[in-house]
Amino acid sequence: MDITTNYLGLTLKHPLVPSPSPLSYNLDGIRRLEDAGAPAVVMFSLFEEEVQNTSLHFSHALDYGSASTAEASNFFPDIVDFVPPVDRYLQLVSDARSAIDVPLIASLNCTALGQWLEYAALIEAAGANALELNLYDLPTDPYTDGISLESRYVEIVEEVKKQVSIPVAVKLHPFFTSLPNVAHQLANQGGADGLVLFNRFYQPDIDIDAFEVTPGLRLSDSSELRLPLRWTAILYGKVPVDLAITTGIHTHVDLLKAMMVGANIGMVASELLKHGLGRINEIVEDLKIWMEAHEYESVQQMRGSMSYQHIGDPSHFVRANYIQTLGSFRFDPTGQDF
Ligand SMILES: Cc1cc2nc3c(=O)[nH]c(=O)nc-3n(C[C@H](O)[C@H](O)[C@H](O)COP(=O)(O)O)c2cc1C
Repeated sequence: MDITTNYLGLTLKHPLVPSPSPLSYNLDGIRRLEDAGAPAVVMFSLFEEEVQNTSLHFSHALDYGSASTAEASNFFPDIVDFVPPVDRYLQLVSDARSAIDVPLIASLNCTALGQWLEYAALIEAAGANALELNLYDLPTDPYTDGISLESRYVEIVEEVKKQVSIPVAVKLHPFFTSLPNVAHQLANQGGADGLVLFNRFYQPDIDIDAFEVTPGLRLSDSSELRLPLRWTAILYGKVPVDLAITTGIHTHVDLLKAMMVGANIGMVASELLKHGLGRINEIVEDLKIWMEAHEYESVQQMRGSMSYQHIGDPSHFVRANYIQTLGSFRFDPTGQDF
């Protein structure tokens, strides 16, 4: 049985890839992921803010005290021990590339063009086999329209593609007026090689007694898979990119669904954080058992079988399903059964 898959021009031994998380924060963690059976490692993100803060830190250090005396330029603060996060990141990419055999995908997290762009090239030079570009952006300005936001995202991808020759996947959120159009622009205009569906916005709550915002990070469960499942089914075969699903993959059933709607890979973070790295092999073994029982010879064979690729106009299909689903709901008007 062939469970290999292709993603971003890389051949992976199976389709369950650990996505960025604290599990890849250091070299030991990255080695452990490979030892646990990861077919590739996607590293945690380097954030554009970290690049900016590093520049600010150095310019502050260089200016420090310069206004106080004529000789003050000698009185630099001690910056010897400061290792900027960007340098640490590049070092980790380089160390990890030498330490593991499976492909290494680095991650840059950004919202706008900036100095961080040059780090895309440095990440490639450090040895990354591909780059995941996370456009984690929550628009809050009522005067910025959707078209300008989308153009900005496409421009970012275009500029990153100019910096590197390794493949670039774009991780994005689902909240667009027309996601298929954004996907088409990112692929055909921006040059994205893959899309990672979706970023999960961490939604803070409110403590009504303390008048405080409570950030709290909640790990996912399988019910959250439905959103990326639907959109992957819609995009498969329509946009010339590889597709990765992230959010809600916890079992072989979730992974099978991801393959069936057309994903090249399924990514996993919460399940590994909750139940340990052993889950990689358990899920892959369960996948093989299921495939054997259902006489599948390869994951390629099932890829896209449940997508909307061959449905002429999926929007009619979606409407019909919606109407049918609402109509099929049965309830007890007395409220006794609930
Ligand atoms: C603690 C934590 C840290 C994360 N760090 C990153 C990160 O640095 N970059 C990124 O793109 N995603 C990051 N993610 C998001 C995950 O990669 C993943 O997309 C998300 O958790 C949904 O997948 P899941 O349902 O398997 O958890 C992080 C998630 C968690 C829980």
